[in-house]
Amino acid sequence: MTGVDTKFMNYNEYKKVIEGTTGFLVPGQEQWLFGQAVQRRNGEVLLEIGSYYGRSSLCLGFPLKNTDSVLFCVDKWEDGRCAVYKDWEKNILSNGLQNNVFPIQMHSHKALEGLKTPFADFIFIDGDHEYETVVKDIDNAYSLLKEGGMVAVHDVIDKFPGILKAWVEKRNLFKDRGRCTSIAYGYK
Ligand SMILES: C[S@@+](CC[C@H](N)C(=O)[O-])C[C@H]1O[C@@H](n2cnc3c(N)ncnc32)[C@H](O)[C@@H]1O
Repeated sequence: MTGVDTKFMNYNEYKKVIEGTTGFLVPGQEQWLFGQAVQRRNGEVLLEIGSYYGRSSLCLGFPLKNTDSVLFCVDKWEDGRCAVYKDWEKNILSNGLQNNVFPIQMHSHKALEGLKTPFADFIFIDGDHEYETVVKDIDNAYSLLKEGGMVAVHDVIDKFPGILKAWVEKRNLFKDRGRCTSIAYGYK
């Protein structure tokens, strides 16, 4: 740990790199995710389901640089040629985040099923958009979050009925719920 005080990190210094990375976040969500990571305490554990080229991984990862906090990125990265994973890795390495951001190339259910102890302080869900998968991703997130930890789910809108239905069914697990546009969040 270097003693870097992340509270004073400025999104605008990272905006060009983050918003130049391919991804599906909508304007404002990058800065919101960055802000969530900035607010984490040193040594916390963040988890992301669905990383793609790394746009959200960079949002969550930049504030962890030179701290003892870590972000685990779970993604199948199965596009046949594995080009997406290579680009994700390049984006992490070229920004010096390899000591804090770690890939887990696996289906989210497989990656999380064996884990029992709540270890995560923040979980961002942006993987599969099908109802059954999202329900299980949210259940797994609830089990693995520490008390007071936050879950944030992307694409909770009519356009993605499976995600919306899953969140509406599961949201009462979480308190102090809120929104950043299509991201719905709450605390365990
Ligand atoms: C919408 S993209 C994620 C976008 C990313 N969060 C961003 O900011 O650009 C969805 C990603 O989730 C991955 N994915 C879909 N279903 C998954 C599952 N069940 N387990 C792990 N990864 C999954 C896909 O491979 C894809 O890369």
